[in-house]
Amino acid sequence: MRAPARAKSREYMDVEADVSQQTIQDTAAQPVVRIRDLQKRFQRGDGSIVRAIDGVSLDVMPGDFIVLLGPSGCGKTTLLRSIAGLERPDGGTIEIHGQPNFDAERGLEVPPERRRLSMIFQSYALWPHMTAFQNIAYPLESQRKNRPSKAEIRDRVRRVLEMVGIPELEGQHPNQMSGGQQQRVALARSLVNGDDLVLFDEPLSNVDAKVREQLRIELVTMQRELGFSAIFVTHDQIEAMELAHQIAVMREGQVAQLAPPREVYDRPTTRYVANFIGTTNELLGTVEEAGSGDVVVATDLGRMVGAPGDLDLASGDEVVAVWRPERCEVTRDEPDTPNRWQGRVVASMFVGSHTEYLLQIGDRQFRTWSPDVEVIEANETVWVSVAQPHVRILPAEEPTP
Ligand SMILES: Nc1ncnc2c1ncn2[C@@H]1O[C@H](COP(=O)(O)OP(=O)(O)OP(=O)(O)O)[C@@H](O)[C@H]1O
Ligand SMILES: [Mg+2]
Repeated sequence: MRAPARAKSREYMDVEADVSQQTIQDTAAQPVVRIRDLQKRFQRGDGSIVRAIDGVSLDVMPGDFIVLLGPSGCGKTTLLRSIAGLERPDGGTIEIHGQPNFDAERGLEVPPERRRLSMIFQSYALWPHMTAFQNIAYPLESQRKNRPSKAEIRDRVRRVLEMVGIPELEGQHPNQMSGGQQQRVALARSLVNGDDLVLFDEPLSNVDAKVREQLRIELVTMQRELGFSAIFVTHDQIEAMELAHQIAVMREGQVAQLAPPREVYDRPTTRYVANFIGTTNELLGTVEEAGSGDVVVATDLGRMVGAPGDLDLASGDEVVAVWRPERCEVTRDEPDTPNRWQGRVVASMFVGSHTEYLLQIGDRQFRTWSPDVEVIEANETVWVSVAQPHVRILPAEEPTP
């Protein structure tokens, strides 16, 4: 590798990354992608500045499936494009397979075609006039340096066609294939050059819901089988939960929480994450007691007891108690637990797998999902309760999204 000399100006050097000798074994213990304090600002037409990426640090380990999840405009695509080298950040570093690919301070930048990854866009962007074989061979055919021989290209394309389970489709054009088959061709095309890091920017967003679900299952199965590392952008939380080993919940250019789906759902660390993922009930209050045991919170609806959190809370802190609708119990008799309120059923909606109740408690409304067969009708007076382990106490200061 050429020594990355210090750039004199903001001119970026085109760095030759010597990556051909590295094997998977070499890289097994280190992150496939390592991002530190990445920054990217854009100037809008009116002169205002947007911090599209605002200090992101992230590690992607070999075989990880990381989903970037967040509302429109939170910086998901910008982060993905920065990793691919299609966007030049203003600060921070990006390493791919242990090689520096971007370093703002050193003025170092590896051009996109030499980064060891591939990117799958919306609708897979297959060439319609090419067969599956030709589509998959394209990244190899278009290599300027070290282009493999015709025979080797044929071997490698056939090998990845086998890997993704569609060897019989090599002569088909995309319009002669199902959505799932097209997805496999796109994946094969990404894997053919042996990079085993695939970036996806909402590839399923133009597909209708039913097919999308099927494609997700196929994608997750193939990723677990083939073991490539993936960074997948979506604003669909169900998609994120199904696909991810870890979800990076993003907000305004920052990663609000990075954790496995279950943890993000059960143990959100901020009010924003609790509200962005799934449905939540909320009640504002002030901490009365917070030590090693349960957290006791004074609210308008009386005392609430929450699970001892992993967050630093002290008496007097303004907090919000959050809990999920499916953790609530709705009963006619008064339960013998803390966190119980009497109220009126405003709406009772049977949706097959459960009944959703909207309950009026004082001037608040709570949502509950109850698996019980017996349905309680609107206007009945009931008790609702939530057990203390399912109540999470979070700092209140953040506004909800
Ligand atoms: N080339 C650009 N010039 C100016 N602003 C930009 C540019 N690209 C992105 N932005 C702004 O940066 C922010 C992040 O954009 P980005 O496309 O990364 O969002 P996203 O999370 O992918 O959103 P979506 O879910 O809508 O695709 C937005 O406020 C956007 O308007
Ligand atoms: Mg986007």
